Amino acid sequence: MAKQLRCLAAFVAVAVLAIAGRSQASPLKTEVNKVGSHRKGVLLAPMPREIAPRTHAPFQSGKCGVCHVNNDERNPGPIKQSSVNENCYSCHEDTRDVMARKYKHMREGAIEFCTDCHNAHNSVEKALLVEELGSLCLKCHAGIKNQLAKGKVQHDAVSKDKKCANCHNPHASNVERLLIALPFDLCVRCHSKDGMVSDDGKTMTNYKTLLAENKVWHAPIRAKDCSACHKTHAADNFRLLVNEYPAAFYAPYERKTYALCYGCHNDRVVSMEETTTLTHFRDGSKNLHFVHVARERGRTCRACHEVHAAKQDHRIRESVPYGKSGWELKVGYTKLPDGGSCAKTCHETRTYNNKTLTSSLPKP
Ligand code: HEC
Ligand code: HEC
Ligand code: HEC
Ligand code: HEC
Ligand code: HEC
Ligand code: HEC
Ligand code: HEC
Ligand code: HEC
Ligand code: HEC
Repeated sequence: MAKQLRCLAAFVAVAVLAIAGRSQASPLKTEVNKVGSHRKGVLLAPMPREIAPRTHAPFQSGKCGVCHVNNDERNPGPIKQSSVNENCYSCHEDTRDVMARKYKHMREGAIEFCTDCHNAHNSVEKALLVEELGSLCLKCHAGIKNQLAKGKVQHDAVSKDKKCANCHNPHASNVERLLIALPFDLCVRCHSKDGMVSDDGKTMTNYKTLLAENKVWHAPIRAKDCSACHKTHAADNFRLLVNEYPAAFYAPYERKTYALCYGCHNDRVVSMEETTTLTHFRDGSKNLHFVHVARERGRTCRACHEVHAAKQDHRIRESVPYGKSGWELKVGYTKLPDGGSCAKTCHETRTYNNKTLTSSLPKP
C-alpha cells in the first residue's frame, strides 16, 4: 500500500514537473535523460503518456530502436542518424521536397531543427507540436506578438481554426513570407462566404461575389493588393485599415480622418471649394466633392463610392447601407456626356455640368 502511494506521489510529481517545465529539459526523471541530444533547453524527451495523449506512430509501438541506437526504453542512447532532421526525413521523404521550396523557414540562422516545433515522441497538441500553435509562433515572433497585443482591431483569421497556419506554411513556400497562396487569393478565398460578421457586428461582404459581379475595380484591387489598404494581423484603425478613414456615413470633415484615401489621392479633390481641374465632380467650377464632404456633417466617400468594386464608372455605388438596420439608400447616379445626374433620393434630382463654367471663375 505504502509503495503504491509512493508510486502515485512520484507520478504526480512527474506530471507537475512536466506541465510546469514543458519547454525546458526532459520532464522524465529517469535514466532515459542520459540520451546525448543535439541541443539543450528544448523539450526533446517523451512526455508522460497521461499528459500527452497524441503519439507519433513510431513511438506508439514502444520500439525506441526505430530511431535510437538502443531498443531499450530505459537507455535508448542517441538517435541513429547524424542529425535530427535526417531522422525525420528518413521516413518523411516528402517533407524534404516541401523544405526545398524557394522561401524557407528552416535554414541556417533561422530555424535549424524539426524538433524546435515538433516533439518526436508525443504531444498535447495537434501535429505533435511542442506548444500550442499560436504561442509557438509568437514565442519567436515578438514583432507580431506586439502587434496583436496592441492592435485595437483584431483579425479573427489569426486566432481561429489553424491560426497562423491559416495563411502561412510553417515549413516553406514558393510564395514570399511563407504564405500558402498569393495574399489576394488568401483574402478573397476566406472572405467568400455570405454572412461573415466582423467583430463589431457588421455582416460583411462576400468578396468573391462582389468582385465577380462588379467589373469596375479600384486600381489597388486590380493590382491584387489588399494590403495597400488593410493590415493583416491586427491594426489600430477601423476595418484593419492602414490609415484613418471615418467609420460612419456622416463625419465632420478633417483632412487627417481621410488619411487612407489621401495616401494616394490629392486631398484638394475635396478641399478646394472652386476648381476647374482637380475633379470632374463639379458643376462648372463649383467642387461638388467640397459641397458634400468638406463640412461639419460631411458625407464620407462611402456615400457615393464603393471602395473595392462597383458596376459603374468611378465606382459609384447603386446603393449604400444607411443607419444601423442595414437598410440600403439608393444612389441613382447616371453618367451624362457633360457630367452626371443624381436621381431623387438624398435630394431632388440634380444634374451637374463639368464642361461649361459658372460665372464665379473667369472662362479660360
Ligand atoms: C520517431 C523517432 C523516435 C522514436 C521512435 C523515439 N525517439 Fe526519442 N528522440 C528522437 C529524436 C529525434 C530526439 C532528439 C534527439 C536530438 O536532439 O539529438 C529524441 C530524444 C529523446 C530523448 C531526449 C534526450 C534529451 O537529452 O533531452 C529521450 C529521453 C528519448 N528520446 C527517449 C525515447 C524513448 C524512451 C523512446 C522509446 C519509447 C524513444 N525516444 C523513441 C526520436 C525518436
Ligand atoms: C520511422 C519513421 C518515422 C520517423 C523517423 C519520423 N516519423 Fe513522423 N510519422 C511517421 C508516421 C508513420 C506517421 C503517421 C503517418 C501519417 O499520419 O500520415 C508520422 C506522423 C508525423 C506527424 C503528424 C502527426 C499528427 O498527429 O498529425 C508529424 C508532425 C511528424 N510525423 C513529425 C516527425 C518529425 C518532426 C520527425 C523527426 C523528429 C519524424 N516525424 C520522424 C513516421 C516517422
Ligand atoms: C516553425 C515550426 C515548425 C518546424 C521547424 C517544423 N514544423 Fe512540421 N509542422 C509545423 C506545424 C505548425 C504543423 C501543422 C500545420 C497545419 O496544421 O497546417 C506541422 C505539420 C507537420 C507534419 C504533418 C503533415 C503536414 O505537412 O502538415 C509533418 C509530417 C511535419 N510537420 C514534419 C516536419 C519535419 C520533418 C520538420 C523538419 C524537417 C518540421 N516539420 C519542421 C511546424 C513546424
Ligand atoms: C524557433 C523560433 C521560431 C518559431 C517557433 C517560428 N519562427 Fe517564424 N521565423 C523565425 C526566424 C528566425 C525567421 C527568419 C527571420 C528573418 O529572416 O528575418 C522566421 C521567419 C518567418 C517568416 C518569414 C518572414 C519574412 O520576412 O519573410 C514567417 C511568415 C514566419 N516566420 C512565420 C512563422 C509562423 C507562422 C510560425 C508558427 C507556425 C513561426 N514562424 C514559428 C523563427 C521562428
Ligand atoms: C490572414 C492571413 C494571415 C494570418 C492568419 C497570419 N498572417 Fe502573417 N502575414 C500575412 C501576410 C499577407 C503577410 C505579408 C504582408 C504583411 O506583412 O502584412 C504576413 C507577414 C508575416 C510576417 C513577416 C512580416 C512581418 O510583419 O514581420 C511574419 C513574421 C508573420 N506574418 C507571422 C505571423 C504569425 C506568427 C501569425 C500568427 C500569430 C500570422 N502571421 C498570421 C498573412 C497572415
Ligand atoms: C482564414 C480566414 C480569413 C482570411 C485568410 C482572411 N480573413 Fe479577414 N476576416 C476573417 C474573419 C472570420 C473575420 C470576421 C471577424 C473579425 O472581425 O475579425 C475577418 C474580418 C476582416 C476584416 C474586418 C475586421 C473588423 O473587425 O473590422 C477585414 C478588413 C478583413 N478581414 C480583411 C482581410 C484581408 C485584407 C485579408 C487578406 C490579407 C483577410 N481578411 C484574410 C477571416 C479571414
Ligand atoms: C483602396 C483601399 C482598399 C483596398 C485596396 C481594399 N480595401 Fe477592404 N476596405 C477598405 C475600406 C475603406 C473599407 C471600409 C468600407 C466601409 O466601411 O464603407 C474596407 C472594408 C473591408 C472589409 C470589411 C467590410 C466588409 O463589408 O466586408 C473587408 C472584409 C475588406 N475590406 C476586405 C478587403 C479585401 C479582401 C481586399 C482585397 C481584395 C480589400 N479589402 C482591399 C479599403 C480597401
Ligand atoms: C493605394 C493607393 C490608393 C488608395 C489608398 C486609394 N486609392 Fe482610389 N485610386 C487609386 C488609383 C491608382 C486610382 C486610379 C487613378 C486613375 O485612374 O486616375 C484610383 C481611383 C479612384 C477612383 C476612381 C477614379 C475614376 O474616375 O475612375 C475613386 C472614386 C477612388 N479612387 C476613390 C478612393 C477612395 C474613396 C479612397 C479611400 C477610401 C481611395 N480611393 C484610396 C489608388 C488609391
Ligand atoms: C456625393 C457623392 C460623392 C462623394 C461623397 C464622394 N464622391 Fe468622389 N466622385 C463622385 C462622382 C459623381 C464622381 C464622378 C465625377 C465625374 O466624372 O463626373 C467622383 C469622382 C471621384 C474621383 C475621380 C476623379 C475626379 O474627382 O473626377 C475620385 C478620386 C474621387 N471621387 C474620390 C473621392 C473621395 C476620396 C471621397 C471622400 C473623401 C469622395 N470621392 C466622395 C461622387 C462623390
